[in-house]
Amino acid sequence: MSTLQLSEVDWAPGAQRERAAKVLRSVSLTTQPGEFVGLIGPNGSGKTSLLRCAFRYTTPSAGTIRVDGEDIWKQSPKWLALRAAVVLQEFPEDFGLTVLDVVYMARTPHKTRFGGDTPEDAAIVDGALERVGLSACRDRNFDTLSGGEKQRVLLARALAQQPSLLILDEPTNHLDLRHQIELLSLVRRMGITTLATIHDLNLAAAFCDRLYVIHHGEIVAQGTPREVITESLLADVFEVRAIVDAHPVSRYPRITLLTDGENARA
Ligand SMILES: Nc1ncnc2c1ncn2[C@@H]1O[C@H](COP(=O)(O)OP(=O)(O)OP(=O)(O)O)[C@@H](O)[C@H]1O
Ligand SMILES: [Mg+2]
Repeated sequence: MSTLQLSEVDWAPGAQRERAAKVLRSVSLTTQPGEFVGLIGPNGSGKTSLLRCAFRYTTPSAGTIRVDGEDIWKQSPKWLALRAAVVLQEFPEDFGLTVLDVVYMARTPHKTRFGGDTPEDAAIVDGALERVGLSACRDRNFDTLSGGEKQRVLLARALAQQPSLLILDEPTNHLDLRHQIELLSLVRRMGITTLATIHDLNLAAAFCDRLYVIHHGEIVAQGTPREVITESLLADVFEVRAIVDAHPVSRYPRITLLTDGENARA
């Protein structure tokens, strides 16, 4: 499995980005082989921007991004596609593709120039759809699926790419409770190095080996969920009052949010 390493990455949008406000400021982050790392932070803190830099969608204005020790900007897009797969927050435009078409796209980096689909490709695509429980939808038009089904097809596509690094932007976004747990369990079981943004902090605490917290484009905390998820972090970064105690079964940090009328423990 791969290592992902961001070192002192800055990024600002737009053509005149020397003068634009930085969205990412000196971000350093490492995901070790087989580790499941969560990136958490409020809306607009820079999570998606960081992931976009990590898979070469945007160029950082400073700093380096390495996969397996290699600077990704000194390698070809195909080199990266053979290692890293991405699931984004947005769904791709509808081009009348079936579910199978969408998942087959993942095999492109593995093909030679004139190579067609092989029986091995078919087995990998079938296996990926089975893993996400959507084999029955293989011939459906992608656009007719529900939001959660689309999300799972996109995970199947990422898995069919046979990556050694997974980059996931809010993978549980459209999923019901059962599918949230199933998807995160599946990703963990696969043992692929994973960097994922997760808004649900209880899920992040339960599934991630380590967490990085981003706030106004800077990493402000990192460590195990137990080290990172504290009442003071929730107040300072997320601006919510909450009680953090231990999950009664797993002992992971458990967050109970307090609304205006409720008082936190003295
Ligand atoms: N291409 C762009 N042009 C201008 N501003 C941008 C661009 N991309 C991101 N931003 C700004 O950068 C900030 C960080 O955006 P980003 O999408 O990384 O946040 P996020 O942490 O993923 O938020 P969310 O939780 O809502 O998904 C936001 O204020 C956003 O408006
Ligand atoms: Mg985002």
